[in-house]
Amino acid sequence: MRQRKRRKILKVGNVLIKSPTQLDGIRKSGEINTAILDYVSSHIRAGVSTEEIDRWVRTETKRMGAKAAPLNFEGFPKSVCTSLNSVICHGIPKEEEILKEGDIINVDVSTIYDGYYSDASRMFCIGEVSADKRRLVQVAKEAIQVGLMEVKPFLPIGNMGHAIHMYIQSQGYSVVEEIGGHGVGLEFHEDPWVSYTAPRGSGEILLPGMVFTIEPMINMGSPDFYVDESDGWTVYTEDGMPSAQWEVTVAVTPTGYEILSR
Ligand code: CO
Repeated sequence: MRQRKRRKILKVGNVLIKSPTQLDGIRKSGEINTAILDYVSSHIRAGVSTEEIDRWVRTETKRMGAKAAPLNFEGFPKSVCTSLNSVICHGIPKEEEILKEGDIINVDVSTIYDGYYSDASRMFCIGEVSADKRRLVQVAKEAIQVGLMEVKPFLPIGNMGHAIHMYIQSQGYSVVEEIGGHGVGLEFHEDPWVSYTAPRGSGEILLPGMVFTIEPMINMGSPDFYVDESDGWTVYTEDGMPSAQWEVTVAVTPTGYEILSR
């Protein structure tokens, strides 16, 4: 995910269109990224620390001959982001943070393989989770599908963000406005910056070969947030209510889209 920065007006020409060879490289990176998330899915449970999740990701990434993109990225200290309950994103794994029944957690994995980047995240419900948190997690997952329906060549990317925003609001939740998705593939974070609150008709025109993430951050309460001053990374909901997020890396194809990592 990427924080919006003051920047020059974005030209379509800044958005990278990947060649078939590059797409192939990102696809391979994405397969590894998905496999790492599958590993996390089959091992995560109550009693595990978020530090242990970091160890799994580190070990599996290395085993597959890849590198974890988050490690040392702008000083991030771990190989994966683990964002628990009221943490929106960028949570740092910790030995003393133990998963317990009723928790919801986002695990965000980003992989570099042969120089190509991929990025995806999933939510996990630990044991018995309250009905309202389960619904938040489900709606956040559905938001990805709602967005994907709008990924077609020659549509503005804003249609995708707008569709997600309308869906989330219809479910009684809010979308974080200032943190969005990003182009990905040759670097961790590329143009375009991807909004999930954008108006219909706004933003870059989708073209075959564009690769970006769909990763809206959905809050049960207000969309406001703050960043933990002590670690400089962890983003919490202002009101302390839960937040959920799923993320896919998607490529625009001549007829629609292809998911490169999920
Ligand atoms: Co991302």
